[in-house]
Amino acid sequence: MRILVTGGAGFIGAYLVKDLIKKKHKVLSVDNFCGIGAIPYINPKSKFIRGDISDQKVLKSIKKWKPEVIYHLAAQSGGETSYDDPKKDYLINGFGTYQICQLGKELKIKNFIYTSTTAVYGSNSKKKIDEDEKINPDSLYGISKFAGEMFVKQTFKKTKTKTIIFRLFNTYGPGENLNFLKKGMVSIYLSYVWKNRPILVKGGLDRIRDLNYVEDVVNVLSKAINIDIKKTEIINLSSGKAYTVKRIIEEIIMASKKKNIKIIKGNKTPGDSKIFHTSNKKLIKLFPEIRFTSFRDGLKKYFDWINKLPVTKNLDNHHPFKKFKMKY
Ligand SMILES: NC(=O)c1ccc[n+]([C@@H]2O[C@H](COP(=O)([O-])OP(=O)(O)OC[C@H]3O[C@@H](n4cnc5c(N)ncnc54)[C@H](O)[C@@H]3O)[C@@H](O)[C@H]2O)c1
Repeated sequence: MRILVTGGAGFIGAYLVKDLIKKKHKVLSVDNFCGIGAIPYINPKSKFIRGDISDQKVLKSIKKWKPEVIYHLAAQSGGETSYDDPKKDYLINGFGTYQICQLGKELKIKNFIYTSTTAVYGSNSKKKIDEDEKINPDSLYGISKFAGEMFVKQTFKKTKTKTIIFRLFNTYGPGENLNFLKKGMVSIYLSYVWKNRPILVKGGLDRIRDLNYVEDVVNVLSKAINIDIKKTEIINLSSGKAYTVKRIIEEIIMASKKKNIKIIKGNKTPGDSKIFHTSNKKLIKLFPEIRFTSFRDGLKKYFDWINKLPVTKNLDNHHPFKKFKMKY
């Protein structure tokens, strides 16, 4: 199939493009390299357009290429960073999604898959939230991503396009930019350990997060075009395994095999939520074969990569899919 992946050079996008190519699909990846928490990667086996998803010229080139399926991942993808430039956050996540939806409608695409976020729910003290839980975002990011969801729903309502909105929970794995300290809870704490510095924790140690290893997320995303759904689905994409921040840090320190790592407490960041924990019942029902990597195994894979990483300010040449350049 001919598949467009927006944000295909980003953290999750790079894994998705790789997986789709392995499955013999033809992939067009579009990215403007304005991502934040990832080492950008362009897959040499994909067709690549460097540009903005709301640029008419870019949209025209995509139209010419005629994708049959769209995975829309391009986003301002951080909660904390949505406060740095709220207008940009809203334009990318809201208007950008609207533009891509319109294009998909014009092209009469078969499937539209949107990566939304747990942030649309906001913090919830219920033990496990499901997809019917009320929408009550804590952050600007949660609001703009929900606007994206609404554009997807409304645009494809009276069309034959099947849509899936996945609400992703915290996803971690090699390829995150360990120099960036504003996105990715696991990568932020790992960054301090990698640099042999005390771990700065902004917010409580009792916050709770479900954690997903990146390959598990991509496994679900890439299978999503083959599952039998009626018309439109909203699915929480999560391992369903909750960890406190305290436990996340303990596991990281244990996996690092380093000693005497200190923890420093800092102030909460804007838009941060206390608890994100879900029921993944619907996901398991639709993807019964899915298995989740344990956090310990995920960390082991992460450290296999980190242990080869030089501590350098520019990690551009060190994406896990690139051959390692140990001399730099
Ligand atoms: N990583 C997570 O834990 C997580 C959790 C929930 C939801 N998500 C969602 O999953 C998707 C992928 O997340 P990620 O972690 O890979 O983020 P990322 O920031 O690494 O990737 C997003 C990519 O989109 C690109 N992009 C941004 N604006 C663009 C624009 N206007 N035009 C073209 N490209 C643009 C960026 O350059 C970047 O490469 C996002 O939609 C994000 O909101 C991620």
